Amino acid sequence: MLEILFENIKRKVKVESGTNLRKAAIANKISLYPHIFKLLNCRGRGLCTSCRVEIISGKVNERNEIEENNLKKALKTNPDLRLACQITVEDNLVVRSHV
Ligand code: FES
Repeated sequence: MLEILFENIKRKVKVESGTNLRKAAIANKISLYPHIFKLLNCRGRGLCTSCRVEIISGKVNERNEIEENNLKKALKTNPDLRLACQITVEDNLVVRSHV
């Protein structure tokens, strides 16, 4: 089992390696979505960019083409942004969400 610390809400959860980060948050009743995006999000397809997180420590999969395309503008101001729905947990993580 791996451990994810959501640092801004100070919650730790345990997940199996290979778990999707968004799904891990949802399964543990942790919302990654700001405001209206709690209801109006793309359900993990990488389109709405509302599940933005920063991986503070730990190893995850490389940023994929969906993230590169849909975060292009935001990455100019914060090159560490990722989409939780596109992240596979492969290590113990410290995550900062943007809610
Ligand atoms: S849920 Fe919409 S981009 Fe991740």
